[in-house]
Amino acid sequence: MDKIIQVADRRFSLLLPAAEIQERVAALGQQLSAELADKDPLFIIVLNGAFMFASDLLKHISIPATLSFIRLVSYQGTASTGQVTVATGLQEDIRGRHIVLLEDIIDTGTTLHYFLPELWKQEPASVRVAACFIKPDALLFADAKADYSCMALPEKFVVGYGMDYQGYGRNYPDLYEVLPE
Ligand code: IMP
Ligand code: MG
Repeated sequence: MDKIIQVADRRFSLLLPAAEIQERVAALGQQLSAELADKDPLFIIVLNGAFMFASDLLKHISIPATLSFIRLVSYQGTASTGQVTVATGLQEDIRGRHIVLLEDIIDTGTTLHYFLPELWKQEPASVRVAACFIKPDALLFADAKADYSCMALPEKFVVGYGMDYQGYGRNYPDLYEVLPE
């Protein structure tokens, strides 16, 4: 039997166990460490969803790097609203820095489509997007593609590994997909 959890008023079933996620995140950390060894990268963690991915990934970054947090909001319930709000902005000067933006998941790409031009206005040397998960079939904006990702998912709403449904479910180390009502 599949593992089922209840989050708020919906039921979800296990999609990806924690061990499998960890393996892929570790491999991505090693790849980024090799590729950015001489770049002194600044990792920008997109809150709230990316906190768990970032925490695990950064343990596998073995080169000098700094990090910072921003908070972007675009989702309500199980659907993207199509509007992006910067709830907490960047505090530091990113001019000339090599940026790695850490996202939990790229769904429609709306968030990045609006936020990446804002980031470029501050004149970083480069911007790379690393998303733990991507939903390629849901992508609406070609400029919102991830440069790196751990796994492609079907176009289904998921919770766990940092991601929420109505604020709940972020704490699970595994990934779950929503079941029909
Ligand atoms: P996008 O703007 O449609 O690409 O989605 C942006 C944000 O919505 C992601 O960074 C997540 O924080 C959230 N999101 C997208 N898909 C899901 C999902 O399936 N479950 C929970 N949050 C999601
Ligand atoms: Mg996010």
